Amino acid sequence: MPRMPSRPMGVAVALCLTLAAAACTASAPSSDAPLSSSSPVDRRAGGVATRAELTPAIVELLESIRESDTDQLAVSEADGRFLRTLVLATGAQRVLEIGGASGYSAIWMGLGLRETGGSLVTIEYDPDRARALQANITAAGLDDVVRVIAGDAFAEIPALSGTFDMVFLDAWKPDYVKFLELTLPRLERGGVFVAHNVINKRDEMLDFLEAIERSPDLVTSIVSAGSEGLSVSVRR
Ligand SMILES: C[S@@+](CC[C@H](N)C(=O)[O-])C[C@H]1O[C@@H](n2cnc3c(N)ncnc32)[C@H](O)[C@@H]1O
Repeated sequence: MPRMPSRPMGVAVALCLTLAAAACTASAPSSDAPLSSSSPVDRRAGGVATRAELTPAIVELLESIRESDTDQLAVSEADGRFLRTLVLATGAQRVLEIGGASGYSAIWMGLGLRETGGSLVTIEYDPDRARALQANITAAGLDDVVRVIAGDAFAEIPALSGTFDMVFLDAWKPDYVKFLELTLPRLERGGVFVAHNVINKRDEMLDFLEAIERSPDLVTSIVSAGSEGLSVSVRR
């Protein structure tokens, strides 16, 4: 981990930090050592860099999912991008999605997880959607990152082993509080519980919003990457 400067930075040192990745040859006091060559926030498993780019083929696939999404189930592109960013920022390893639909959000998270070395389990109970979800994950080249379960998440989650360090909830809104109760005991400390539509469908989940707000175990922010709203709750 890089050391924080113990006193105000000199210009040369500031420039070194700004150009951290470049070869900065200006001399700096040893206590202000420049950043090491490895990323200072590299939380990928084993620090192994496996970049997952948003290739034209993936962009086309994501667009085709949205075009065939006549029920408008998928998260917005802005929220998809946010989920990918959140996975990378937290270095998430074990992610659970409740309500996978046709895989739009799962692909965004899968791209992040390809880079963290983690994996996603996504559960979808509509059989047709679950089939499309699996096909889209395969088309995205994410079969080794994303596991699709066709079934009712209330029955499937207890059958999963282990804990999660991120849960993304996007099922029917009146069920949110029950899914919180089911999964919170299995969320690691420092893990994040993320729920979708907390702004545009707020009235359908008031009990859930009250629960995350009141829980002494959660620190919550409501963010609005798109217009639908996401709650992001960190477990203490
Ligand atoms: C809003 S959509 C999910 C959209 C998806 N996250 C995306 O961005 O592409 C909600 C999905 O949750 C599924 N669902 C609802 N309740 C469920 C349950 N108990 N178990 C599994 N899936 C459920 C629905 O069938 C529906 O496809």
